[in-house]
Amino acid sequence: MQVPSRDDLAQSGTLEELYGKLGQIGIAPGWAKSTPSLWPAPKKNFGPAHWKYDQARGALDAAGRLINTELAERRNLILFNPAATNSYGTVRTLVAAYQMIMPGEWARAHRHTPNALRLILDSEAGVYTDVNGVKLAMEPGDVLLTPNWSSHGHGNDSRACAYWLDFLDVPLVQLLEPMFFEPAEEDKAHEAFETAPPTKDSPFVFPIAETLKRLDTAAPDPTGRFGTQVELGNPAMDTIGLHMMRLSPRAKTTPYRTTANNIYAAAKGTGTTTVDGERFEWSRGDVIAAPAWLPHHHEATEDALLLRVTDEPVMKRLGFYRVEEPAPTSH
Ligand SMILES: [Fe+2]
Repeated sequence: MQVPSRDDLAQSGTLEELYGKLGQIGIAPGWAKSTPSLWPAPKKNFGPAHWKYDQARGALDAAGRLINTELAERRNLILFNPAATNSYGTVRTLVAAYQMIMPGEWARAHRHTPNALRLILDSEAGVYTDVNGVKLAMEPGDVLLTPNWSSHGHGNDSRACAYWLDFLDVPLVQLLEPMFFEPAEEDKAHEAFETAPPTKDSPFVFPIAETLKRLDTAAPDPTGRFGTQVELGNPAMDTIGLHMMRLSPRAKTTPYRTTANNIYAAAKGTGTTTVDGERFEWSRGDVIAAPAWLPHHHEATEDALLLRVTDEPVMKRLGFYRVEEPAPTSH
């Protein structure tokens, strides 16, 4: 087909004729877009969702029989938001996954530009993550970071399967495009590495014992938006903020909504979270998605800890962070 010239375009007799010629050269009329490019407030592209650790445990135990860490880079289960057009992200910018490693296994080291962290759910002494050649201990309740381009592999020298939750900013990196991934040098063969005891003395580890100590001295705020909370890091990573929230039994937190995306993981206890009118009953290890601009609040039924994983640092850095408390009548 002949590419339309300046004169061909100038001589278009109708709008339809003009649209046809423009289409051939990759231009669209801004006044006749098929879908709007601006709208008054954030859309509900991602919805409220809840994933249960109990179910994930069953699936991971099956996966333990069916696939090993030689074949699978990681034995993990992706928590994808059930929004119509989505098959990967938990919310727009972040993805969460359950992961399991069996006794004696080694999930080989690699590094990538996406930032990652994990909340340990069940493990025994001897389970570790190798971050840049240092063995970091993984105990239940601990949070471990592997920021952008840090090499990391997972080992299990204990006698029990170890389970944790991973959180990554992969969907954001996919959107922005700076994705790099490569296998890392294997330090594991070195004798010094084999015999080194795992440590928690690292800026990449937030041990649960220290987090609990900090919560004990934090200003109590049982009915605030976040309950009583402490931040892990400031922020933990360039794109991801982390807060451990302590909820008091039967104290309802203040409903609010924010342009930031939030994922909540129950580190302890039981309770309910209501997101945009949907009520989820959770227990330890469960995950709740509260995508951008959906009002939500929590109410524990017993002493509970929620890890809040949020893209707030991105929204704040870019000037897109907004927060508001909707009128109580909207619930
Ligand atoms: Fe990784």
